Amino acid sequence: MKASERPIGVFDSGLGGLTVFRELRAQLPGENLIYFGDTARVPYGTKSAEAVIAFSREITGFLLEKKIKLLVVACNTASSLALDEIRKVSPVPVLGVILPGVEAALAAAPAGGRILVTGTSATVNSRAYSKALAAAGARVRVLEKACPLFVPLVEEGWCSKAVAADVAREYLAPFRKKKIDALILGCTHYPLLKKIIAKVMGPRTRIVDSAHAAAASARAELAGRRLLNPGRRGRCEFIVSDAPERFSALAFRLLGIRTGKVAVKRF
Ligand code: DGL
Repeated sequence: MKASERPIGVFDSGLGGLTVFRELRAQLPGENLIYFGDTARVPYGTKSAEAVIAFSREITGFLLEKKIKLLVVACNTASSLALDEIRKVSPVPVLGVILPGVEAALAAAPAGGRILVTGTSATVNSRAYSKALAAAGARVRVLEKACPLFVPLVEEGWCSKAVAADVAREYLAPFRKKKIDALILGCTHYPLLKKIIAKVMGPRTRIVDSAHAAAASARAELAGRRLLNPGRRGRCEFIVSDAPERFSALAFRLLGIRTGKVAVKRF
């Protein structure tokens, strides 16, 4: 197999990373993609850093056996807590989703503006976004809010139920008056709740996520290494650590992705 034909590996704790997968598919249609969802261990956002690092290393090892040419960590929690550790064990380039999210937020918020970072408890406690925004020299005020019930709502497929709107109001209504210019969906599950979140925040706030910028950085990384696979018909393979039929049904219902048969890999 030519180096450029090797697949891109993408992983998340569950369904959320499919929001990044969808964008990779749109921007890089010729690429062969392998998506891994750690459905046996979702959610990651309430786990310790040690656990998230151990899971991420296992999945990385598994995807490396599949001869990937690039790894996209389509999970903010793993990107916040485990990116350095993943890079230590990976001979192929590894991209996370924090920097792309920062890029998207800075494009949406003016200098001196306010950015609200939403994410899992682990991501918010790690302050990965605040640190990355500071490192980017951003002159913005950063507020952060963990929204731990969002991931189970999405994994249950309850993205447009009244209960999801109630939960979003509970977490975010207090920020509506705070003149937020951009809200970062700092968890790859959250774009599936975007409409509900936008409604709570009101028209002033731009809602941004990392998917578009993450796919653009994957393209740039591959182009820089002359590893782009041209064409329009890359193969896609889906693997989960549990309940493949459930994953397949929700991928179609929530994102319109037809997975075909989903394989299972247990650790
Ligand atoms: N989608 C992941 C993230 O971006 C993980 C959510 C979770 O498993 O708690 O943080």
